Amino acid sequence: QPNGLALVPPMGWNSWNHFGCDISEKTIRAAADAMVRTGMKQAGYAYVVIDDCWQGERDGEGNITADPARFPSGIKALADYVHARGLKFGIYSDAGSKTCAGRSGSRGHEYQDARQYAAWGVDYLKYDWCSTYTQDGKSSYQVMSDALRASGRPIVFSLCDWGTNKPWLWGQNIGNLWRTSGDIYDGWESREGHYNGMTNILDRQAGLESYAGPGHWNDPDMLEVGNGGMTQDEYTAQFSLWSVLAAPLIAGNDLANMSGPTRSILTNREVIAVDQDELGVQGRRVFKDGDREVWVKPLKGGGRAVVLFNRGAKASQIAVDWDMLGYPRETSMQVRDLWQHKNLPGTSERFATEVPSHGVVMVRISR
Ligand code: DGJ
Repeated sequence: QPNGLALVPPMGWNSWNHFGCDISEKTIRAAADAMVRTGMKQAGYAYVVIDDCWQGERDGEGNITADPARFPSGIKALADYVHARGLKFGIYSDAGSKTCAGRSGSRGHEYQDARQYAAWGVDYLKYDWCSTYTQDGKSSYQVMSDALRASGRPIVFSLCDWGTNKPWLWGQNIGNLWRTSGDIYDGWESREGHYNGMTNILDRQAGLESYAGPGHWNDPDMLEVGNGGMTQDEYTAQFSLWSVLAAPLIAGNDLANMSGPTRSILTNREVIAVDQDELGVQGRRVFKDGDREVWVKPLKGGGRAVVLFNRGAKASQIAVDWDMLGYPRETSMQVRDLWQHKNLPGTSERFATEVPSHGVVMVRISR
């Protein structure tokens, strides 16, 4: 790892999925307050990250400034506000000349910006890939990685090139997480104009498992849980699958106005513990038959987290055989349901159950 950070996948909140460009210091403060009030902080969420659209113009010396209309108190004051609540503060920039929303990117200002972020108290930088034209991916991210290190402040570095430059092949010594795909959309599967539904993003993770580990994670993009485009079962599926993938858990909903059912997904500690397991192994798909899938993540101590996933339009029976988990068939194993929070009867050979349409059953299996 470049900086010794993110030994387990980062957890936090980012403004983009819900608010897009419509942000201000009020929005960010409200999210930080809600993170504490709703129990998200207690459950492990730490980073409050401002995405695109916070920047104003560069000043006469080339220093980046905050948009004075949206962030009149400045970024330092906002970082202080977030830190005062025991949380960490993140910000966004772009490897090219302009961000995707047309604000100033960091190209040619990398060291100056990194020093500025450190002075403001930034703990996390998401670094986008718009307006990069003929720039080389690896060296563009390397420059900012070096600049962050030179700033002297520990800053988690989130690479956001949408998988364009296959960052899993070189990102491990440059950043702490890297996006593997284009932007997620708050829907089950792609439809016209929206290519990356939740299940499409999921499919792109299979095969990338070996590139992830403590300090360097594949990032299948942020959570859509609570944003309104999917059902409770579908959001439960996203949260379960992202956890089995050891994905960064970056909430993307309006925390200040979240419903009870949304909160109960985002704060499920047993599922979060799977994501945050110290072994740091990304789960893989071990079974697929049409709409029925089994995803498995090895856990510290020899247990396994298992997601039985049903993509179909009807409820369906799905089984995981001990063969798929590397356990001897005859061994009797304990099975705990991580959404019902209860132990199921011990069993040998396999665990089979009915899985709801567009949903999951998630269990932990151990001796
Ligand atoms: C593209 C990124 O992939 C998104 O997550 C978001 O940061 C937008 N850019 C912001 O413009």
